[in-house]
Amino acid sequence: MKGLILSGGAGTRLRPITHTSAKQLVPIANKPILFYGIEDMAAAGIKEIGIIISPETGGDIRAAVGDGSQFGVDITYIPQTDPLGLAHCVLIAEDFLGDDDFVMYLGDNMLEQGLEEFVHRFEASRKSDNPATAQILLARVEDPRSFGVADLDDEGHVVHLVEKPEHPPSDLALVGVYLFDKTILDAVRAIEPSPRGELEITDAIQWLVDQDFLVRHEVLVGWWIDTGKKDPLLECNRLVLDTLLSHNDGSVDEQSQVEGRVVIEAGAEIINSTVRGPAIIGKDTRIVDSHIGPFSSVSHDCEIINTEIDNSVILAHSRITDMTRLTESLVGRHAEVHKAPERPRATRLMLGDHSRVEIHD
Ligand code: DAU
Repeated sequence: MKGLILSGGAGTRLRPITHTSAKQLVPIANKPILFYGIEDMAAAGIKEIGIIISPETGGDIRAAVGDGSQFGVDITYIPQTDPLGLAHCVLIAEDFLGDDDFVMYLGDNMLEQGLEEFVHRFEASRKSDNPATAQILLARVEDPRSFGVADLDDEGHVVHLVEKPEHPPSDLALVGVYLFDKTILDAVRAIEPSPRGELEITDAIQWLVDQDFLVRHEVLVGWWIDTGKKDPLLECNRLVLDTLLSHNDGSVDEQSQVEGRVVIEAGAEIINSTVRGPAIIGKDTRIVDSHIGPFSSVSHDCEIINTEIDNSVILAHSRITDMTRLTESLVGRHAEVHKAPERPRATRLMLGDHSRVEIHD
């Protein structure tokens, strides 16, 4: 069994962060989203992993993941010139995949349940008299319109799949983890681009169903988040922070208090401040005269001075000073946020394209 992780794409919904970096490298609890998927694959015994990368962010992904040895896996990078769709990724991975079965994982998805059981059940089916050609994972969601959606018949067989339907046939969304045998290559060759101009994996799976191949499905246990937008990303950060075990490799002075589940990474300094968990403070970050509230991840080499933060993700090398309260925020790398002087009463901004700011006056 091989692994294929999709880490190309445009990342338009996380702009401006994704103008300069890959959405799959945005940290959740100070670890890139992509790393969780690689670790899950390694835990499921998958050692050969192909990663689809784009020309814009491929270099950063290569730099972060390297040859895979840090995860105990072998990585092959597969460049995709344009984001032509999830099924297009399978097409360009053909040489890497060979005749092997594989798990395909969308690099911006995170799920609570690991891959092990899911993979084992597919492997068991492959050895049975009625082997599945594909296995999909479904999750019940409130608004399925921004996902692939599956419809089951009365006996629980997958009969119809549709990508981002205006009128969803069910509330069962396709989670970004799929298992395939090599027949999927015939399927992706047979389908046409969708109205959004992409070769959809959803259409390729529908082709398998139409050709009477067995498509198994499972309904997800635990949470699943497509982290491609700010609010789901913050929610994911909250869920993962909640699972961390406290430890302190930095320093906390006598005037400071650390409460609850808090990770303080090496070289971090907490000075005259309160950190209330769940929270993580990155390597060499300084927290001075501040209150870091629950569900906050502050990445490495940041400086937070005289500021209150909660429910936020702050990326590396950022500096925030004199902010009364910053909440539900995603702050990019090397960003600066400061309180304006009393006079003149005005807000001064230098924002990247597609930035979003809510100002409390
Ligand atoms: O998150 C689950 C959903 O993911 C499914 O329910 C949908 O059926 C599926 O089409 C997909 O929808 P999205 O619109 O959310 O996919 P997105 O464009 O965000 O791409 C998912 C990942 O694949 C992301 O890490 C970027 C990468 N990608 C995407 C495209 C279109 C590529 O590497 N190459 C591509 O051409």
